[in-house]
Amino acid sequence: MPSPGPLPKVIGHRGAAAHAPENTLAGIRKAAALGVRMIEFDAKLTADGVPILMHDDRLDRTTDAKGPVREMTLACVRTLDAGAWFGPAFRGEPVPTLAEALDLCLSLGLSVNLEIKPCPGRAVETAKVALAVAHDTWPADRPPPLVSSFERASLETALRVAPDWPRGFLFDRLPKDWMDHVAALRPATLNTSHRRLTAALAKQLKATGLPLLAYTVNDPKRARTLFGWGVDAVFSDTPDAILAVAD
Ligand code: G3P
Ligand code: MG
Repeated sequence: MPSPGPLPKVIGHRGAAAHAPENTLAGIRKAAALGVRMIEFDAKLTADGVPILMHDDRLDRTTDAKGPVREMTLACVRTLDAGAWFGPAFRGEPVPTLAEALDLCLSLGLSVNLEIKPCPGRAVETAKVALAVAHDTWPADRPPPLVSSFERASLETALRVAPDWPRGFLFDRLPKDWMDHVAALRPATLNTSHRRLTAALAKQLKATGLPLLAYTVNDPKRARTLFGWGVDAVFSDTPDAILAVAD
């Protein structure tokens, strides 16, 4: 099973989403400046099949345009402002392509959790294309990105096209048949919502021997509790606050 590589205790969520617009190059730079060593971001495809960084299926919340991402070509996406909604200091910040984001992480020496976040119906295609781009961009001598998804079809595709890259089994509510998923997908990590975690559940998940990652943790007190339960790493919009309590 591929290893996730060195796993820091704090992972910048969508960059450093409380400090800079999510899923942008500015956000990645901000996270690095705060001392973060690993970044999580979300990738989905444009209408013409180019992987870009974007969380929502629609452009409305994080850009100055409206409409489904899947109907926008890269040329159209390139005209959008993904920073002004967050604050005037970020006006003109573009929507990055996945390749640009990975290049920046490489130059900043950051590890990556690439979350495959397909628009409905595009789970296989998104994983296939995003991993092809990531493979072309990422040098073989660096620990490969951790590839996670809520979509089983995306993780199955990752297993098929990039079996040597570590996978993160990402879930909100633990599926009843989660052990079957783990057996089939052979993940390197278990990534779950901290809201549903209890000490008992953490213990059960840790019994697999896999690292346990929890999202999205912005309260340092909660982070301490989670680390005490054996959680290996947390995703945070405020990584600076969590770094302060991480050993
Ligand atoms: O990968 C952890 C976390 O990002 C999953 O939830 O909705 O923020 O992408 P979401
Ligand atoms: Mg995400």
